[in-house]
Amino acid sequence: MQPNQPIYENLKAALLEVGYSQAGLTEQLGSAAPVTRADLNTTLLRTSEATPLNCLIRLFHLGVEVPEDLGTAALPAKLLSDMTDQGWLRLEQESIQASVAISVIDEYHFFSDSFNKLAGGDASSFVLPGNTQAGRRLKQIMLAQQGSRALDMCCGCGVHAVLLSDYYEQVVAADISPVALDYARLNAAFNGKSNITFIQSDFFADLAEQRFDHIVCNPPFVLGPEQVFDYRDNPLPLDELCAQLIQRASAHLAEGGYLQMPCEWTEVSGETWRERVDGWFNNSDCDAFVLRGSPLTPGDYVALRSSDLTGPGLHSTAGLQRWLDYFAEHSVLAVHPALLTLRKRTGANWVHYQSVGPFPDGDLGAAVQQGIEACDTAAALQSDQALLQATLRVNPQAELEQNFVREEQQWAPARALLKLPGPLQRPVEADMAVLAFLNNLDGTLSCEQAIRTFAEASRADTARLQVQLLPVMRLLISNRLLLIKSITS
Ligand SMILES: C[S@@+](CC[C@H](N)C(=O)[O-])C[C@H]1O[C@@H](n2cnc3c(N)ncnc32)[C@H](O)[C@@H]1O
Repeated sequence: MQPNQPIYENLKAALLEVGYSQAGLTEQLGSAAPVTRADLNTTLLRTSEATPLNCLIRLFHLGVEVPEDLGTAALPAKLLSDMTDQGWLRLEQESIQASVAISVIDEYHFFSDSFNKLAGGDASSFVLPGNTQAGRRLKQIMLAQQGSRALDMCCGCGVHAVLLSDYYEQVVAADISPVALDYARLNAAFNGKSNITFIQSDFFADLAEQRFDHIVCNPPFVLGPEQVFDYRDNPLPLDELCAQLIQRASAHLAEGGYLQMPCEWTEVSGETWRERVDGWFNNSDCDAFVLRGSPLTPGDYVALRSSDLTGPGLHSTAGLQRWLDYFAEHSVLAVHPALLTLRKRTGANWVHYQSVGPFPDGDLGAAVQQGIEACDTAAALQSDQALLQATLRVNPQAELEQNFVREEQQWAPARALLKLPGPLQRPVEADMAVLAFLNNLDGTLSCEQAIRTFAEASRADTARLQVQLLPVMRLLISNRLLLIKSITS
């Protein structure tokens, strides 16, 4: 895998020529995401027509062999022989087999191990394509910050390092696997990136005193009793690895720097769902913005994780039972998948959990950034005095959804929900009195004045209204339904 510019250019041109791009794969297969072994047969059916694109999909996306004549029709002869010399393709009795996968993310192409390696005996050191579910989710939340130094910890084939390199002057890509780092180097060169350096490191062990403005990390976080795949399993009990990584990453963040990481934590018997994970953020010196997905029962988790990329065939029934027994021994009630964004900040740190149910699709980076800003505002207005002095206004993008129910032959107003458009927005229920009060928050009156004015108009007691309205305003602020015009300290 030596730098070899002409092959890269010729291969890139050949891939694009036949439509091996994100748009082309999506049009042909419905998605450019990796195909799990369980879905292999249906995808073979979808690619049965003998076209150049289907040939390259079978070789580099599915990892199955193609007849030699099809391969020679899809790739120019010189390129085919150069790729064979590089070890990316193997000619076997009238067929061609790829030893690498090529995944597509945005305008970039990424090499990784071919899926046919999963079927062989050498699957434990498999190097993932960078667009697996967790890798895609990490990409979704990545903040579009500009800065001087970023780190892709557990870089694998280097997808997130390449993505970060568009925003940072210097990017470090770190992984324990020399094979993964070879792919990461190849992918940086193939995609024309020269600002990435590579380091073999057992997590942060070899990063000494280095500090970063942004760390992204898709660690081997899967919770299970044994190490089957290096790319996803780790030897620590339950979710201990993620807890440790947060503490260790924080020490490598510059003030104001971000750590972004997919993770899973366990809810164990006798504790609330957040008790365990709250502990991860204590003493991290970071604010934590947590997007929390739908929790899974141990049974659902084992079913999901035992059939993600690999298909169900690699786990025996006894192996699955051992997995379930492991959760039972540790009193695990549920597994919570989440996407973390931590920001290093000196001072009293906040933690915000946002339950999103099934993770939404699409870019979430801007929404995460706005969510963090709203949490900063809520933290600045934590004391009643600060909130009463602040001038607020209703977010002009807010929408009101009102339900009516049938009562005594008439439609009576029932639940009213205030909401914002956007992927991470949570509706907040508001009663008629709160909705009427919000009209007083026009950006000219302080909250204290607005409450007094409202109390006078509705002949209510000002002190009692304050007690009722302050928590509601805090909820609306942390959901960006109320925006701050000014704070008087
Ligand atoms: C889930 S994969 C993520 C790969 C890539 N970042 C992505 O998102 O596709 C986890 C990666 O962590 C690496 N890894 C496992 N243990 C490690 C360790 N102790 N130190 C550094 N990297 C490690 C594996 O080699 C693998 O590449």
